[in-house]
Amino acid sequence: MGRIIAVANQKGGVGKTTTAINLAASFAAAEVNTLLVDCDPQSNATSGLGLVRDPERISTYHLLMGAASPEQAVQPTEIEQLWLVPAHKNMIGANIELVDTERREFRLRDALSSCRERYQFIVLDCPPALDLLTLNALVAADAVLIPMQAEYFALEGISELMDTLERIRGSFNPELTIEGVVLTMLDERTNLAQQVMAELKRFFGEKLCETTIPRNIRLAEAPSHGRPALLYDPRSKGAESYIRLAKEIIAHHLPVEAAAPVQEMDKTA
Ligand SMILES: Nc1ncnc2c1ncn2[C@@H]1O[C@H](COP(=O)(O)OP(=O)(O)OP(=O)(O)O)[C@@H](O)[C@H]1O
Ligand SMILES: [Mg+2]
Repeated sequence: MGRIIAVANQKGGVGKTTTAINLAASFAAAEVNTLLVDCDPQSNATSGLGLVRDPERISTYHLLMGAASPEQAVQPTEIEQLWLVPAHKNMIGANIELVDTERREFRLRDALSSCRERYQFIVLDCPPALDLLTLNALVAADAVLIPMQAEYFALEGISELMDTLERIRGSFNPELTIEGVVLTMLDERTNLAQQVMAELKRFFGEKLCETTIPRNIRLAEAPSHGRPALLYDPRSKGAESYIRLAKEIIAHHLPVEAAAPVQEMDKTA
């Protein structure tokens, strides 16, 4: 059954969408079937994968409203094993429309339940808010991946996110875990980055991903070409770092025996 990972942080511009697109593309490039669901009315993950705006197209909005099935909403992408459920800015209304619906926090979870078998990973790109759209993503998810920038105020707002996760565990989704905290747009050479990294390590312990994402212009350029970095510039530091992050996450969820050949090789080297 597919592992559902919500990429969330209510802080804006921390690299959620860049992480969602490039992580999903890297999973797919590692030959695991992957679905990216754009849960943000800004629709940046949708345009970042090259889909033009189309208000008529079936989107995450229709999934949330129970007006379409995932099979009807899924779009193929340039990468063979990557599919996308697109968003549209009309989804902004969903926050209000959902308020009076039945099981309003479970709409996305219910919608995705029929397609979980088909994908090894389902990645949800969340909006920069702790609204009903993000809540739906966190209730649908097995785990949350939190992109953060290594800046002075990095931990500000994190306690609010942690409280929200606690509340969701208590009320809607007791199994929700933290997949990891990933540092984005990192410039490791600065003292500030080193200090913030040390502080985050103390706070999150092993939940802080070993892989960090450097500031890399290719990652910023790729969406305007409608492609993930690993197609736009596969040798860029940005593309490579997301491939490493995907491998790190896949390794956490592989059965133990799958790691055996690598250990064998190490012994003979
Ligand atoms: N590692 C990186 N190197 C350089 N630029 C980056 C990197 N990661 C993200 N960016 C750029 O930073 C901006 C914000 O990134 P992104 O859109 O991924 O953040 P977000 O958290 O999804 O934003 P929002 O909260 O608005 O949804 C974008 O212009 C993106 O191209
Ligand atoms: Mg975004």
